[in-house]
Amino acid sequence: MPGVFNLSVDEAVKEVREAHSLGVLSVILFGLPEKKDEIATGAWANDGIVQQAARAIKREVPDAILMGDVCLCEYMSHGHCGIVEAAPQSLGAAVASPPAATTEYEIVNDATLELLARTSVSLARAGIDIIAPSDMMDGRVAAIRKGLDEAGLANTPILSYAAKFASGFYGPFREAADSAPQFGDRRSYQMDGANFREAMREIELDLEEGADMIMVKPAMPYLDVIAAARERFDVPLAAYQVSGEYAMIEAAARNNWIDRERVMMESLLSIRRAGASIILTYYAKEAARLLG
Ligand code: PBG
Ligand code: ZN
Repeated sequence: MPGVFNLSVDEAVKEVREAHSLGVLSVILFGLPEKKDEIATGAWANDGIVQQAARAIKREVPDAILMGDVCLCEYMSHGHCGIVEAAPQSLGAAVASPPAATTEYEIVNDATLELLARTSVSLARAGIDIIAPSDMMDGRVAAIRKGLDEAGLANTPILSYAAKFASGFYGPFREAADSAPQFGDRRSYQMDGANFREAMREIELDLEEGADMIMVKPAMPYLDVIAAARERFDVPLAAYQVSGEYAMIEAAARNNWIDRERVMMESLLSIRRAGASIILTYYAKEAARLLG
């Protein structure tokens, strides 16, 4: 992704300070661990890379509002967002070796919830202000809410990636995070882009489970979903302009096919007009510069 880099902890502190001075008051952190395994240790370890970054940023830029993306795929050796088991499985076995074959596997939803809750508590303890689960397991918001409450973190809000579609637009992110699934795909847990009603139902469920804010992702190919969510649900609504959306604009601009700044601002305007009150975008600093 041109212009987007993986940062060390000290570089991340500088980046947040710069963003903050431009008026970008909130950032979201993603982690790229040194080692990946089959239980996503790097996601929930006390000294995980995001935990380290959160502590450092809170120390140096205490006013920054930190969101933490909660998912396991960046930390799993197989690149899936949940625990993988060979299928057919015996009930009750929590973690088995991921299979070599591409078809005979299963994502173990309920065992994954425990790791997601553990990750959320660990992030909140490290200073993350808003927990943002992006894994799309069923029941994760309730499990995370319960985990946070029991850890004395009842005031930590949840921004749920409620309507997250299985999408080709995540390609550049997965390359950067080295998190593309090594077998199969994410269609069994992310949503079908053709199924509008399911998107509404997923948002409803997340709110029932205790989500404080909701998100639609990707943004521009799903503006109708953003607009419908704005109509139906009276909670803060976020939209995520994802890596592929960014990469398309960058590529076209580099070829002098489009006016980069104009298209960048027009794309953000379309997301805002559809009804998003929060926009996650790789253009945040640049847009803030222009708007300021
Ligand atoms: C983790 C996660 C992904 C993105 C955000 N959180 C990757 C995925 O679902 O494959 C994509 C972000 C982007 O493309 O900018 N599940
Ligand atoms: Zn994931």
